[in-house]
Amino acid sequence: MVLRATIAGCGAYLPERRLSNDELAALHGLDTSDAWIRERTGIGFRHMAAPGETASDMGAAAARDALAHAGVEASEVDAILVATSTPDSAFPATAVRIQARIGASRGFAFDMAAACTGFVYALGVADSLIRAGQARCVLVIGTEVYSRILDWTDRGTCVLFGDGAGAVLLRAEEGTGAIADRGIISCHLHADGRFGDILHIEGGAGSTGGPGLLRMAGKEVFRHAVTKLAAVVDEALAANGLTHADIRWLVPHQANARIIEAMGRKLNLPAERVVMTVERHANTSAASIPLALAEARRDGRIADGDLVVMEAIGGGLTWGAALARF
Ligand code: COA
Repeated sequence: MVLRATIAGCGAYLPERRLSNDELAALHGLDTSDAWIRERTGIGFRHMAAPGETASDMGAAAARDALAHAGVEASEVDAILVATSTPDSAFPATAVRIQARIGASRGFAFDMAAACTGFVYALGVADSLIRAGQARCVLVIGTEVYSRILDWTDRGTCVLFGDGAGAVLLRAEEGTGAIADRGIISCHLHADGRFGDILHIEGGAGSTGGPGLLRMAGKEVFRHAVTKLAAVVDEALAANGLTHADIRWLVPHQANARIIEAMGRKLNLPAERVVMTVERHANTSAASIPLALAEARRDGRIADGDLVVMEAIGGGLTWGAALARF
């Protein structure tokens, strides 16, 4: 018998305010158009946090939703991992703030920063904690307020991102170690700091000062995304003796519809087996995969027994993939 981390619940939170491309352009006086944004990115709308609404506010809402979906009390949670690049402050960690907010007090809680790959990284760490017997009931949360770190005069970046939070509740269950077991099968994580400059925050809360705004070389990021994501998904499948034909659902990081469609083609998956929220959410960074998972699990698309591939790339560069059976 082995310990497996099963995905017992999925939760989501999106701020109330929803902005179309045209509304965004008018609000910030941007020289852009709905047609340009849709054609290059597939994005139509994004949600925006209210003034004063923080990553911990949104993450707590998503966490409560995941707990309710799993039918688990906050008092049962023994670890909280939060993936975010927009924490409320350097410390207390956003995870600890969420712990207090949802009424949990046992165990431990900490934040992880891997930009848009944050959720896959946090899932990998949570899976290891569960397999090692260090935790049995773990909340993994992605929560982001990118509206606070965007340069609203830079039309090449500010149209791409949105705010939101998603969460999963992982529970330890005994498995046989077979590929048919429910739960996380494996996670494959990578980083290459030599490419740090192509997607980064200039200054900000770190030790280098500055305005703390997102900067990106879009074309270069695009190029890395398509090759690295395809490679890491193949690595995950090969590690488990699986092929493209075994994938029931692709739940990708929602950066850009063109990147997602390219991945679907590389994996021979029809569009109906790829979960896409980017049109309505834009890129919510570490929150985008758990938001997409919550949507597809709760509307019945992802059924018990389905094999799901998650993949993401983000600033660092960081990238990774996770395989899970629901
Ligand atoms: N509206 C209108 N024009 C825009 C624009 C906008 N919102 N943003 C950029 N442009 C312009 C540029 O200024 C440039 O004009 P120029 O030719 O007069 O200089 C032109 O469009 C082409 O710019 P370019 O950056 O080469 O466009 P692109 O085809 O690469 O598309 C992205 C830009 C950002 C959509 C694309 O590179 C991309 O999706 N990259 C990946 C980004 C990503 O997913 N990042 C997150 C990863 S986690």
